[in-house]
Amino acid sequence: MAGTLAGRVVVVGVCGSIAAYKVAMVVRRLRQDDAEVHVLMTPAATRFVGPVTFRALSHHPVITEMWDPHGRWDEPHVALGELADLYLIAPATADTLGRLAGGLAGDVVCATALATRAPILVAPAMSDAMAESPAVQENLARLRARGVHVVGPERGPLASGKVGLGRMAEPEVIVAEVAALLSGPAGRR
Ligand SMILES: Cc1cc2nc3c(=O)[nH]c(=O)nc-3n(C[C@H](O)[C@H](O)[C@H](O)COP(=O)(O)O)c2cc1C
Repeated sequence: MAGTLAGRVVVVGVCGSIAAYKVAMVVRRLRQDDAEVHVLMTPAATRFVGPVTFRALSHHPVITEMWDPHGRWDEPHVALGELADLYLIAPATADTLGRLAGGLAGDVVCATALATRAPILVAPAMSDAMAESPAVQENLARLRARGVHVVGPERGPLASGKVGLGRMAEPEVIVAEVAALLSGPAGRR
């Protein structure tokens, strides 16, 4: 029997945070539900988890830059932006949130956010001080006002050993949010 996300395309943008390892589980769960998954990574994300992991889990090449002359797509941000039924950015770093809020397109993760008409879901992850900083709060408010969906961050144990706000939402929470958005009015085809 086909999974609940059969026929749906989820593009996943991964950023440079320790929480990137948890997104491997998100991709695995989305694939288990039969979604087609394509992964994009910022250069910083590749310092935390290798593209090979996401390639093996998604069964598709991973895009780490816009300038790959041997890549499958001439313009990956445009091709994947159009293909996406939903664009998930997880973990969303403070830096990427700032670039998204500013409408910047200098890397493949942010360029795809501009090039898609699909719903966008961001799952922030960062230290407690970063998560509570006025700049990050302001950027999240700007993104929400534009219709970007936000899951987390949650309060809990952080990579630093502290307990506070900034922990990325758990993989199952993110997958449930993806499924809910895809079955809601904005995600229905
Ligand atoms: C060990 C380590 C962990 C980091 N974790 C985070 C994090 O959880 N959240 C965050 O916003 N930045 C974190 N950073 C900083 C980002 O990696 C850095 O701002 C980077 O430029 C983000 O790039 P990107 O948004 O293009 O992926 C971390 C840096 C290091 C060295």
